Amino acid sequence: MYTGLKHFHSYVAYLVLLLVAFAVVHAVLSLSGKRPFTAQSRKYALFGLIAAHVQLLFGLLLYFVSPAGFSNLGGGAMGDAVQRLYALEHPLMMVIGVTLVTIGFSRAKRATEDVRKFKAIAWYYGIGLVLMLSRVPWQVWP
Ligand code: HEM
Ligand code: HEM
Repeated sequence: MYTGLKHFHSYVAYLVLLLVAFAVVHAVLSLSGKRPFTAQSRKYALFGLIAAHVQLLFGLLLYFVSPAGFSNLGGGAMGDAVQRLYALEHPLMMVIGVTLVTIGFSRAKRATEDVRKFKAIAWYYGIGLVLMLSRVPWQVWP
């Protein structure tokens, strides 16, 4: 169970980062090219959102079965940078990142002007992506 979840989480991480980055690039290029928000634009944002939500759900499960997750919270973990990353910083920052992506999708959905839709995606997905990249355990991944 633990090993399977960990591998799944490790693979879906590529999808999340790539699809969210793709949505940001598409939004920025569409803004600068003054292009309309198409069904394809919505799909790019949706794929990023779905990947992020799947990762959130399974990341939460992983957090409670991994020896590096919740069970390691407290005690000596806070004094060790790598242990603190897995038990606290990574999960917290990723939840914030996924929340920003969700807000971005939701705002883009509600906006009536195409420029506002693209701006919501560019900013919320963009900042969410930077936060997620800041707490990827780069010492063991990719
Ligand atoms: C949404 C964006 C996320 C990305 C891109 C991401 C990425 C990663 C990566 C690349 C690893 C290292 C995997 C490996 O060792 O091969 C990892 C580990 C881990 N992640 Fe995430 N993660 C995300 C969200 C979350 C969330 C929301 C949680 C929990 C609430 C979480 C909990 C964990 C835990 C506990 C580990 C350590 C597993 C272990 O080594 O035992 N992650 N994550
Ligand atoms: C911890 C688990 C999850 C939480 C807390 C969560 C939360 C949310 C929230 C708050 C929204 C609303 C966004 C809006 O305003 O439109 C949303 C939308 C969505 N979620 Fe999740 N989600 C989770 C897991 C999943 C999973 C596992 C999937 C896919 C397999 C998924 C797919 C979607 C999709 C497709 C939408 C957009 C629906 C639309 O077109 O408006 N979510 N989610």
